[in-house]
Amino acid sequence: MAEFIDSILKEHRIFYPSDEFSRKSYIKHMKEYSKIYKKSIENPEAFWADKANGLEWIKKWDIVLRNDMGFFKWFEGGYLNVSYNCLDRIVKAGKKDKIALIWEPESGEEKTYTYGQLLKEVCKFTNVLKKFGVKRGHIVEIYLPMIPELPIAMLACARIGAIHSVVFAGFSSDALKDRIQDSKAELLITADGSFRNGKIFPLKDNADAALKECPTIQKVVVVKRADNSIYMQEGRDFWWHDLMNKKNIADFCEPESMHAEESLFILYTSGTTGKPKGILHTQAGYLLFSYLTFKWVFDIKDNDIYFCTADIGWITGHSYIVYGPLSNGATVVMYEGSPTYPNPDRFWRIIEKYRVTIFYTAPTAIRALAKEGDSWPNNCNLKSLRLLGTVGEPINPEAWMWYYNAIGKGRCPIVDTWWQTETGGILITPLPGATPLKPGSATKPFFGIIADVLREDGSKANVNEGGYLVIRNAWPGMLRTIWNDPQRYKEAYFEKFGVYLTGDSARIDEDGYFWIMGRVDDVIKVAGHRIGSAEVESSLVSHKAVAEAAVVPFPHEIKGQAIYAFVVLKKGVKNNENLKEELRQHVANSVGPIAKPDKIQFADDLPKTRSGKIMRRILKAIAEGGKDYGNIATLADPGIVEVLVRSRVK
Ligand code: PRX
Repeated sequence: MAEFIDSILKEHRIFYPSDEFSRKSYIKHMKEYSKIYKKSIENPEAFWADKANGLEWIKKWDIVLRNDMGFFKWFEGGYLNVSYNCLDRIVKAGKKDKIALIWEPESGEEKTYTYGQLLKEVCKFTNVLKKFGVKRGHIVEIYLPMIPELPIAMLACARIGAIHSVVFAGFSSDALKDRIQDSKAELLITADGSFRNGKIFPLKDNADAALKECPTIQKVVVVKRADNSIYMQEGRDFWWHDLMNKKNIADFCEPESMHAEESLFILYTSGTTGKPKGILHTQAGYLLFSYLTFKWVFDIKDNDIYFCTADIGWITGHSYIVYGPLSNGATVVMYEGSPTYPNPDRFWRIIEKYRVTIFYTAPTAIRALAKEGDSWPNNCNLKSLRLLGTVGEPINPEAWMWYYNAIGKGRCPIVDTWWQTETGGILITPLPGATPLKPGSATKPFFGIIADVLREDGSKANVNEGGYLVIRNAWPGMLRTIWNDPQRYKEAYFEKFGVYLTGDSARIDEDGYFWIMGRVDDVIKVAGHRIGSAEVESSLVSHKAVAEAAVVPFPHEIKGQAIYAFVVLKKGVKNNENLKEELRQHVANSVGPIAKPDKIQFADDLPKTRSGKIMRRILKAIAEGGKDYGNIATLADPGIVEVLVRSRVK
């Protein structure tokens, strides 16, 4: 009980940036935030037009925003080139020799690219694409691991006006096939293999399997990465290095003049129903939004070294490894492999090696690494860090505190950034020099964003009342449609309330702080009460015996739904029935008796994607005693599913 009270007290502490941090930051105080925020929502068009002047345009826009029957258009009549803004513009600003990209392979020698070098590589690959007949509006599928060729290929597409569709390299051939079939791409860029935990993942074999059912693909470009033996189909498959080393490939290519609303990329993401949705982002609005959010949320300065652990196969990598950082002329570290290879200090070693100043990762990674103990970070020099960030899921206060203390040493603000594939960039977030932090809260909306929480009937929820998180207005980085399915776009996002439905539940506290409770589909209705799975998990994790927890609903005869908790105990803790009862009581005490898990299953690990997200869908199927676990191929360890099924609590 004493520990429990202690942890609750900790959750109520508020953390302020140091005076020094605030003084040097772009947004220095909440008064400044409030003033700019007010202006930004009173006249969003003037706000965004002013910010858009920070980019370089071939022709400026005629109209800032237009609502075309529910489809939003930004900066119509304007022309620019995204790759130009991320490369040539930076080179012209005198940063030709500044390092743009540091690539840390899982094992072997790192590689660095200055802005000047990156521009050349991108131009060369654009010329390769042109030789294949790729033109503006064509779709290029990219199935690459975390290697420099991935951002190079994306920027080459952007330069020529081709639409890239990156498929996470951890996806199986089936997932790749589905995405190619939906996007109807004509060219695929892949690699022979990729490395993860020292093992080779056979990307080209997967691609070959997918391509059997993808007749639209005419040509395949293959990067040699793992040097594993692969099949190269004559006339269809070409080595990247052969194409790039041809004498007639020039190292400059004029960027295309792209209309603001032409497509930039498609990125597939899971919806509430089965088929993945191709989320479409366009040129100018997306670039502006990733540019400005990156600049202000990460308070980026010229001498910063920024490390984001996300995979570029997800939106975080698109916006905050590629487009946001490069359009700001920042130095970005990208890492190829597993956070625990060869040891669980890999991230901390990378921070030490490159003197990383800003570090952005996922709560799951934080929890997983915290579980390994403090000696790993304590043995590394983390003094260079000045700012930390998290994204992708709610962070429980205990993980927040560990991150703050064990990694940030109590000096670094943490930006808990809430956003989605659909939003293109960060919507709810602290501004690190201004916002007082409450561990576990994503705090306040970014400029130009009117976020709200609604009840089922569309009325505004009370203070601290959970409800549907919605965004009431349009913003430049928002998705424009779902590829090939404009109807689904309207239905999924706008039908329910007539404003953008995020699919998350949240509450707003008495200070106007947003607390994300989880996906609406993760909200558990126990005896009619709404309980955020994140709240129960946070409670469990606050118990001294617990390292990680995931909570899902299962059908209950009387209550409708009840809670099933999968619990990973800290190393050395013995599992037994007494502990189960203690945990139940702990949850009853911290969340409420209705949130008590009916069932607790102790587990060695939880099913996670390779990007570290816990797959609750699979846990839900296990908890329900179902047989269909959906696609488990993206799990870091698919074998975990069978282990959990065997010890399911009946
Ligand atoms: O539920 C929210 C959660 O991640 C969802 C979006 O997932 P995705 O499109 O894959 O994008 C992830 C990276 C931006 C949201 O609907 N989410 C994201 N960030 C947070 C979060 N939940 C709580 N706190 C966050 N900071």
